[in-house]
Amino acid sequence: MKTSIHRIRVATTFLALGIALAPTAARADEEVVSGSWKMTLPRGLQKDAAFVPESNPVSDAKIELGRDLYFDTRLSKDDTVSCATCHAPEHGFAEPRKTSQGVGGKLGKRNAPTVINRLFSSNQFWDGRADDLEAQAKGPITNPIEMAMDSPEAVVKKLSAIAGYKALFKKAYGSDEVSMDRIADAIASYERTVVSGDSAWDRYQAGDKKALTAQQVRGLELFNGKANCATCHASFNFSDENFHNLGVGWDESKKELADVGRFEVTKADTDKGAFKTPTLRNISQTGPYMHDGSEATLREVVVLYNRGGNKNPWLSPKMKPLGLTEAEIDDLVAFLGALDGEVKAQGKPATFPQ
Ligand code: HEC
Ligand code: HEC
Repeated sequence: MKTSIHRIRVATTFLALGIALAPTAARADEEVVSGSWKMTLPRGLQKDAAFVPESNPVSDAKIELGRDLYFDTRLSKDDTVSCATCHAPEHGFAEPRKTSQGVGGKLGKRNAPTVINRLFSSNQFWDGRADDLEAQAKGPITNPIEMAMDSPEAVVKKLSAIAGYKALFKKAYGSDEVSMDRIADAIASYERTVVSGDSAWDRYQAGDKKALTAQQVRGLELFNGKANCATCHASFNFSDENFHNLGVGWDESKKELADVGRFEVTKADTDKGAFKTPTLRNISQTGPYMHDGSEATLREVVVLYNRGGNKNPWLSPKMKPLGLTEAEIDDLVAFLGALDGEVKAQGKPATFPQ
């Protein structure tokens, strides 16, 4: 069942590729519908690219429960870490650290990507190893270097002891049984409301020629032209939903990759050091950048692209030195600042279920 939905979604994404980058006229606000639930998308986002698995239709009650779970540190072993610790609204639903820090200060090897606009992807994680948000959400709760709960059973037991949660599970699912599947479904439903559009770029695309500065317009032209960014950061969500090796994490002295990325999932040689193309929406808020947080600023990122990435045996053939001038690098960075939109999803609740 999941596969067929996935295929439809991919097809519509490709369809969207052609439309979104051409300066076409504004589209009216679009509505995502799932069961009896509806959400009006901010300007620029396309409903055809939304992915909601058939097994988990969205509902207001699931969103409410999922929001509590997302922000609740009680989902971690010592009540110190929640999803929002590493995917914080005030950091564009990402983190200001280079790599993640979980319970007891344990460090991971990757930087937390943003939770913004996950509605438009099926596969999750830098290497795409989770098929959907539901599968993704179960990982961190029992991951020893993230929320470190001892087992799924321990999570279920802990939440079942909180009467306020039992009531919310009942509202969302018709019975008050707590299970990992229900926890994951609710968190995924909340995450699907974390969308960002109506940026200066969306308003410019819609015909408001004053929405971008002259420098940003030059940056936009470079993005789609000489700098070749749109080849991978394609369509309205600035991602081709594909995996590429830019040479991030390549150690030239040891001649090895610190992290093989997508290769771990596919075991295909061509996927060595390949990572998912991330969205660029709200990118000014989510630094540091790349799967290992190795680039501190957007300027550093563009400088990496300008030299054609880091040479290594698996470098994407799409990576070539760009020959950008210092002024052009500034123009591109200025353009990336035009992709900030307001996230209207509800943030941290004032109180948690007791
Ligand atoms: C200790 C920090 C930390 C915590 C806590 C955490 N995450 Fe993450 N999250 C990460 C990191 C790091 C990655 C990337 C890991 C990878 O790709 O292997 C990630 C990846 C993700 C992704 C994939 C995004 C994408 O673009 O592919 C989603 C969605 C996500 N987390 C949601 C959650 C949710 C929901 C929770 C709570 C249940 C949570 N995270 C808890 C650090 C954290
Ligand atoms: C070959 C495909 C490809 C091209 C071309 C490309 N990108 Fe990327 N971009 C990616 C991938 C893949 C990543 C993540 C790489 C990693 O972490 O190893 C990424 C990461 C980024 C990030 C960091 C995002 C984050 O959340 O950490 C920014 C910013 C970015 N790209 C901007 C650009 C700009 C600007 C251009 C044009 C100069 C460009 N990209 C060209 C594929 C591409």
